[in-house]
Amino acid sequence: GKTIVVTGSASGIGLETARVCTAMGARVLGIDVTKRFDHVEEFYRADLSDGATIDALIDALPDGIDGLANIAGLPPTAPADKVLAVNLFGLKHLTQGLIAKMNDGASIVNLASLAGFGWADAIPAIRASEGVHVDDAARFAEAHQISNAGGRSYFFSKEALIAWTLQNRWTWRERGIRMNTVSPGPVDTPILGDFLETLGARAEEDARIMDRPGTPADLAPIIAFLLSDMTTWIRGTNIPADGGMSSNILCDMH
Ligand code: NAI
Repeated sequence: GKTIVVTGSASGIGLETARVCTAMGARVLGIDVTKRFDHVEEFYRADLSDGATIDALIDALPDGIDGLANIAGLPPTAPADKVLAVNLFGLKHLTQGLIAKMNDGASIVNLASLAGFGWADAIPAIRASEGVHVDDAARFAEAHQISNAGGRSYFFSKEALIAWTLQNRWTWRERGIRMNTVSPGPVDTPILGDFLETLGARAEEDARIMDRPGTPADLAPIIAFLLSDMTTWIRGTNIPADGGMSSNILCDMH
């Protein structure tokens, strides 16, 4: 079986992804800042907003990694610098540090969001974010006035994550290592209420046009599929899974 690293394995989409990957015969290495044992035999507690902690984690993880599911994330109600650190800068730091421990052909899946689809309008700030270290998230947020008013820090973290994934379509090409994002619409997990709180009327309108919010079980099989060898020609792209929400927004013909 494959060795798969799953961040955010203690809750929601990460917990379900760890469960599905285990059921498919993988050895799952779970990472989270809080611990829950369900479905994950090998667990590393780590705060993915802190550079030194991530470096220690990279050292502690074994060689021979076949998959990395970057699912840990903070909602828009968390402090802006923490949102940027966990959802973007820490994720990049961990991923780049783990490349040397990955097998050829490894697959990386990043959990983005429908909130990241506006990345093309944020290119100057995304460019400015490129070399920023995870421990400099607060300075970056201040310099670029990215607060969590209106969920901006969250939106930016996902915009920059999608852009980074697309930009790196060929980076590890000679080793067959590929990276994609999955972008859910609203998913019923403990942080759904944080989105509703932040987005207010807009989130209510989104909820109205949907049949139902997603569940972790809607997302985990898609992530597992992208981690598998069935998808080696899917590379450097963003895959929405949102009950039709993004097409509804983009079509605007209703
Ligand atoms: P969740 O809150 O159930 O799970 C997130 C996990 O990340 C938690 O276990 C949490 O402890 C962990 N985490 C947070 N900060 C951390 C840190 N500093 N270090 C290590 N782990 C940390 O939320 P959910 O919904 O499962 O979210 C998973 C991903 O899906 C996130 O990246 C989120 O942005 C994304 N997403 C969620 C949507 C939703 O509506 N629930 C919609 C679109 C994207």
